Amino acid sequence: MSVTAPEPKRNMGQPVPRVDARLKVTGEARYPADVPLNNLAHGVLVTSDIARGRIKRLDLAEAKAVQGVIEILTHENARELKPLAFGNAVATSISPLAEPRIWHDGQIIALVLADTYEAAREAAYRVKAEYDTEPPSAGFGSAGTETVLAKDVTETHKEDPAVGDVEAALRSAAVTIDVEYSTPTQHHNPIELFSTTCAWAGDQLTVYEPSQFVYGYKHAVAKQLGIDPRNVRVISQYIGGAFGSKGPMTPRTGIVALAAKRINRPVRCVVTRQQGFTTTTYRAETRHRIRIGATPDGKITGFSHEGWEITSRPDAYVVAGTDTTSRLYGYGAVWTRVNMVKADRNTPGYMRSPPELPYNYALESAMDELAVALKMDPVELRRVNDTMKEPIKGLPYTSRPLMQCYDEAAASFGWSKRNPAVGSMREDDWLIGWGCATAVYPTNMGAAAARVRLSSDGSVRVQTAAHEIGTGAYTVIGQMAAERLGVGIEAVNVELGDTALPPAPVAGGSNTTATVCSTVLKACDAIRDKLFRAAVAAKDSPLAGRDPAQLELRGGTVQAGGASEKLSDLFARMGSGAIEEYAEWMPAGFAPESIQKLYNGTSTLKGGSKGDKMMYAFGAEFVEVRIHARTREIRVPRIVGAFAGGRIMNTRTARSQLMGGMIWGIGSALHEKTEIDPRAARYLNKNISEYLIPVNADIQQLEVILVPEEDREVNPAGIKGLGELGNVGTAAAIAAAVYHATGKRIRDLPIRLENLLST
Ligand code: MOS
Repeated sequence: MSVTAPEPKRNMGQPVPRVDARLKVTGEARYPADVPLNNLAHGVLVTSDIARGRIKRLDLAEAKAVQGVIEILTHENARELKPLAFGNAVATSISPLAEPRIWHDGQIIALVLADTYEAAREAAYRVKAEYDTEPPSAGFGSAGTETVLAKDVTETHKEDPAVGDVEAALRSAAVTIDVEYSTPTQHHNPIELFSTTCAWAGDQLTVYEPSQFVYGYKHAVAKQLGIDPRNVRVISQYIGGAFGSKGPMTPRTGIVALAAKRINRPVRCVVTRQQGFTTTTYRAETRHRIRIGATPDGKITGFSHEGWEITSRPDAYVVAGTDTTSRLYGYGAVWTRVNMVKADRNTPGYMRSPPELPYNYALESAMDELAVALKMDPVELRRVNDTMKEPIKGLPYTSRPLMQCYDEAAASFGWSKRNPAVGSMREDDWLIGWGCATAVYPTNMGAAAARVRLSSDGSVRVQTAAHEIGTGAYTVIGQMAAERLGVGIEAVNVELGDTALPPAPVAGGSNTTATVCSTVLKACDAIRDKLFRAAVAAKDSPLAGRDPAQLELRGGTVQAGGASEKLSDLFARMGSGAIEEYAEWMPAGFAPESIQKLYNGTSTLKGGSKGDKMMYAFGAEFVEVRIHARTREIRVPRIVGAFAGGRIMNTRTARSQLMGGMIWGIGSALHEKTEIDPRAARYLNKNISEYLIPVNADIQQLEVILVPEEDREVNPAGIKGLGELGNVGTAAAIAAAVYHATGKRIRDLPIRLENLLST
């Protein structure tokens, strides 16, 4: 055991190394753009120079003259592409090449196909477009935006949580705060570029594309092409970073598929880093107004949270994190509202902890401001307002070890040594600040199906169209099967990411481990049941006549109190080579048609605040910042997070997720921001040299504490997803520490040196 492979505590699995680690580090893991295909043509996208208007004319003559160019798809010759409705597996209703309209800067206007990538790229530069241009609205504060209430126009946020009379509570509160915060536009920059590769064999289409939802892509691309989804297979066995960006399908997929059909050759399109900023999704900028009233001893009596989010003109994408913030503490009265501000932008989409990151940054920052106003320790403020029942409907949390997380992280961090006075903890030229915040993430789950086979030689095969997005899915799913079937992990072969397999939900909302392990558990238990019945029924078996419920499957043998029989012998007696079970599982309260909907490409997740009980994973993060007294350089020398996630399948992969989350959290506080030219509604830093993310030099000491937790109510496996928990709260903890060091309260992310220069 080591730091990277933490010793499992109660209700935690072994830190099994990732089963695909060697494949990945040796380059043998085949990512979708790596799949070798004969006679492959290369596609390069051409994108618009304007954010709003129409294409008036395209001049393709120069582009077509480039040697090796085969064909150029444009809105003039690709009209058979069908527009898609926004939602679930579809990232946007914006349908490039289906119409001449331009909705945002950098919209796809053509796909150039050539024998080589170089020729396609050369030709793409030579495509000339003329437009009828209209002035665009870039975002908050721009003329011409339209503000609508989220609950009036979205399926995902139909109600603004509220209870009691907040205005009265705030009027009568001894201490109140009324503060505004903002978070910036942020763009995914996975190491693996976005890509689509399509190959037809007759009317059968195979799509190789990094995807967090292969069944969704299958049905969405079939709709876009107007073909039978049974003729489509989507394969995505490895994904080099996703974090939401490869969740719903973007229109590129169908465009590349159509191109491959048109030229009767497989086509690969790898999207450039720059084009990834405008042809996929991103985290939209948000604004928040938070008001809190409290008694002198810190009990909150009124909480009000209004949010504003940017979205595109045609699509109602919204994250509405008030669903979580309105229920996080035992407030008295609550009022919330979420507004969407429509601008001439590409449609935003999921990015790690889509609602919780921005909304909890605002809430947790306000909690720190309230603690200061109350002259109270910020940990104690959380303790005073901790609750086992959410305030809106009084629904209980299935488990909530929030304060245990605070206490463990505080002890390791040394929080008791904090001098609360602002600017009091200086060391030489460095101003030291300590801050903390809550991490919280809903325990989401969906319907899923899996097939598990146990062979007489003790080998196991698990098949489900779940997704390995870097989280360790192959490993933890394999661990569940190994555990239930009593074999070593090396005997288990897990197949994922292919619509030829039984369906699993989108790898989003951190649901995969909880959902798929619960499903695999069910399939394995059906295998155990068959085996055990066979064992006790056989007259000449050492286990004959025993109660099947007393049997155990361990080390390739079936056992019961001293007696045992080898699997191979039992299979021989059964005259059977293998037992294969197909299982479907869905969380309690799910509509029975959920599995069929999943087969048809629609994934529904439940959990969090969406049921009769509140299901959430919790954590607490503590940070130290050091700010140089003269230059105001900001460093984060230490960060400690303690997290509980029910059953931890694998302490190594869990720690990695939480560590990566905390690093992303540091990035969200200090680095990440897409700069926008307000005149052109154009992203400016579309590259990873100017779009800042933390690098090794930004990360110093980082500690992850796994807090043991048992929750038998969330799902049969007792698992709460952890993938998105770690980056929630980090930015608020850093902002609090910056205040503690300097006395400056920065309410707009990212916090930069220039914000701290004036005194
Ligand atoms: Mo995650 S942003 O729900 O893929």
